[in-house]
Amino acid sequence: MTVKEIAMNDIRVMISKDEIEKKVAELGKCLSDEYSGKDVVVVGVLKGAFIFMADLVRAMTIPLHLDFLHCKSYVGSSSTGIVNIKMDYELDIKGKHVIIVEDILDTGRTLKALKERFKNDGAESVKIAVFLDKPGGRVVEIDADYSCFTIENKFVVGYGLDYDENYRNLDYVGEVIL
Ligand code: IMP
Ligand code: MG
Repeated sequence: MTVKEIAMNDIRVMISKDEIEKKVAELGKCLSDEYSGKDVVVVGVLKGAFIFMADLVRAMTIPLHLDFLHCKSYVGSSSTGIVNIKMDYELDIKGKHVIIVEDILDTGRTLKALKERFKNDGAESVKIAVFLDKPGGRVVEIDADYSCFTIENKFVVGYGLDYDENYRNLDYVGEVIL
């Protein structure tokens, strides 16, 4: 599949660094309250969740374990529809409370597949925390338990999200004007 090249002036700021910091701190506090006294494993979905995950867990004030898995379903700005697990998580999550941390909930395929997997693997509970929710992109039935921002059905980059592996390191969320 060929991917159209874009440049910095094709990106328009949608969510600022300050807005992000405020929301992520609020979510960290909320999760700390809800999961206090529980055995928690926070599992980040690579690569997109890495920045959100790093900020979120530092905003959490309860003991927790961390793990990662690596999924891929996009080429350029279109979902291939196939959820490919490139690296699996490692910890024993049986009887534990799993929080899956993902950059964005779009079609829902990735998180639906992962949620079922953690349930089948014996997690006591499985909840989904996403940085962005794009309900207009949904093709399977699944909701986030926690999300920082709900956005329109636009393709965005930054704060971990990429366009063909570029722009993950932007400290804001930008809309790609294709
Ligand atoms: P899903 O379509 O809900 O399964 O989301 C799968 C993955 O698609 C996400 O983890 C992101 O990596 C990617 N994705 C979906 N929407 C966007 C976007 O607007 N920008 C960048 N990546 C996206
Ligand atoms: Mg991606």
